[in-house]
Formats: sequence, C-alpha cells, structure tokens
Amino acid sequence: MTNRLFYGDNLDVLREHVASESVDLVYLDPPFNSNANYNILFKSPAGTQADAQIEAFEDTWHWNDTAEDAFDQVARSGNSKAFDLLNAMRSFLGENDVMAYLSMMAIRLVELHRVLKPTGSLYLHCDPTASHYLKLLLDGVFGADNWLNEVIWRRTGSHNNAKRFGPVHDVIHFYRKSAAYRHRPVFRPYTRGHVESYFKKEDRRGYFWTNSIHGAGTRNGESGKVWRGYDPTAAKRHWAVPSDLVTALGVDPDLPQHAKLDALADLGVIDFPPVGSGALPTYRQYLDRSPGLLLQDIWAYQPHTRGTLHGSQEGIDEDVRWLTAQGDEERLGYPTQKPIGLLERIIAAS
Ligand SMILES: C[S@@+](CC[C@H](N)C(=O)[O-])C[C@H]1O[C@@H](n2cnc3c(N)ncnc32)[C@H](O)[C@@H]1O
Repeated sequence: MTNRLFYGDNLDVLREHVASESVDLVYLDPPFNSNANYNILFKSPAGTQADAQIEAFEDTWHWNDTAEDAFDQVARSGNSKAFDLLNAMRSFLGENDVMAYLSMMAIRLVELHRVLKPTGSLYLHCDPTASHYLKLLLDGVFGADNWLNEVIWRRTGSHNNAKRFGPVHDVIHFYRKSAAYRHRPVFRPYTRGHVESYFKKEDRRGYFWTNSIHGAGTRNGESGKVWRGYDPTAAKRHWAVPSDLVTALGVDPDLPQHAKLDALADLGVIDFPPVGSGALPTYRQYLDRSPGLLLQDIWAYQPHTRGTLHGSQEGIDEDVRWLTAQGDEERLGYPTQKPIGLLERIIAAS
C-alpha cells in the first residue's frame, strides 16, 4: 500500500479496499456544505478556464433517498453512539439540506474510524459553516474522550464584510482512535523578541535562560523524593528532567531521576538556590540547544513578519501560508486547494 491512490467514492473504496485497523493517519478535507457548486470554478494556474473542464464537486445537499439511505446505514453500522447523535440531530434540524450533508458525513466517519489503527489519528478539515455539527458527529463516532484539538487555520488574509467580522479561518478537528495514539511534538522558531527577553544570561556554553526541572503535582516514586536537600513534594512538585535536554548533553536518558540530576549537576548546568529557601534548583536551557516553541492550536500566517523570527528567514507561520491567486507556484487553480505545509505539520506530528 505504498503510494497507492484510489479514485472513486470514498465510501465504496473504504469498504472494498481498506482493512479494519490498517491506517495510521487520516486527513480529510470534505465538502464543507458551503452550498457552492465548484464545477465551473476550476481554473488553470494562469487563471484561465482549464481546457478539460473538470467536474470538481457539487457541494450542495438535499434531503432525498440517498440521504435517507446514509442515515439508515449509520443505524445499521453497529456504532450506536454515532447513530444516537445523528438521530438527535435529525429531530433538532429536521429533514433538510444540513441533515443530508451530516448523514453523508456520518456514514463515512464510521468507516474512517473502523480503518484507523488503535495508534492512529484523524484530522477533519472543515469551516465554521458546519464545524460544530461535525464536532458533535465526531464525538459520537470517536467518543468525546478522544477529542484532542480544534486547530484554527487562517485560510486567507481578509474577507471583508461590514456587517460582521471577516471570516478568515478554517477548523481542523483532531481526534485519536485510542489512548495508544502516537504524537510527536512539533516546534516552530522563537520570535526574536522572545529570544531577547528570555535568553539573556551567558556562560561558556552560550546564551541560556533558567528553566525548571520539576513539574506540577506530587509523585510517590524517586521523582518525588528529596535530592541534595531539596524536597519537591514539600513544594507540591516532582522532578521532571526534559528528555531533549538530557539527550542533547549526552546523558543517558534511561538513568533514574536522581542519577540524571546528578549527571546534569556534574556538567554544571544546574543552579542551586539556598537550601531551605523553598525554591528548587533550575537548569540552564541554552539557546542553541533549544528546539523552539511547541506548536499550539492556532496556525495563522502573519504577512509582513519576515525578519521577526530567530534563525529563520520566514515570516510567522509562513509554512502554512494560504495560497494566493497570483504568482503562487503551488496553486493549481482549484478553489479549495490547501497548502502542502499544512499537511506537513499534520504528518510530522502524527
Ligand atoms: C474541499 S475539496 C478538497 C481539496 C483538497 N484538499 C486540495 O487541497 O485540493 C473536497 C474534495 O472532496 C471530494 N469528494 C466529495 N465527495 C467525495 C466522495 N464521496 N468520495 C471521494 N471524494 C469526494 C471532492 O471531489 C473534492 O475534491
């Protein structure tokens, strides 16, 4: 299954070709129920109509036999929570276009849930038109406990409207299949302002700031025990040595907590406050060994910010910059095309 592309209705493809619990990662960018017909909008990169008019998709939905059939299929799917939710929506919304759209989505989400491995994740890209109905559906299909994020992606610079605030964001719902899901932290460059205000001190290794080697909450194991006269439990904390720090300094990350702290102290990267002051030791986090800022759940390119990031020529969140109509090499002319950088973040994280 390397580099295999299926062309067709995803419901049939999933049922006929994709085994249960065989998929690591799902990203779906379905029609948004935006009531637009994109057939006639497909343009070439130059902005002219493409020679072969491609039937993009019809993003309009009506309550009809197909919708009723999708609804019945969810009833028979065996996912009773998903059906309870869909049924509740039907009583609330009635048999209308939105309900037709949600039924079409529900039966496909049931299949996507089936094919994901227990370690897998799903990202559903949508916009505020239907995002909160879709969130409820996903809670029904995946279980609300498996919801992880509502990522906000800035899809355009402005969308002017004098009667309300300009709608410029899409929503990406992020769910795990189970608690065994895999997630890897993704980092972005610090801003220069952050570096200037935090990494002010300097020793022979370079610029650093003092960061904590303890986390909130008490623990019963060694990480809760007194080390060199400092009691984390008394401060309602526990020893928590960041693994990237340990690895970067060549210390064995599998050492017990106190041995790790001893190794770091021997390297001279731990600062000790007076014993009995109530303060706990800190470590020197060096700028050139710091991974950057952990990615948060707002992904918003900021135009005209080149030169403001540390160690990067890019502007803020430029890797997820929206595609522009003119002069954008990546843009193929399809109206709902997403940038590759967006998918790269998702793949890197999962
Ligand atoms: C919002 S667009 C996706 C845009 C795409 N992510 C990109 O960057 O170009 C929605 C896509 O879903 C496809 N689609 C709609 N219903 C489908 C179905 N039942 N099975 C497979 N694809 C479907 C449409 O043809 C359309 O290409």
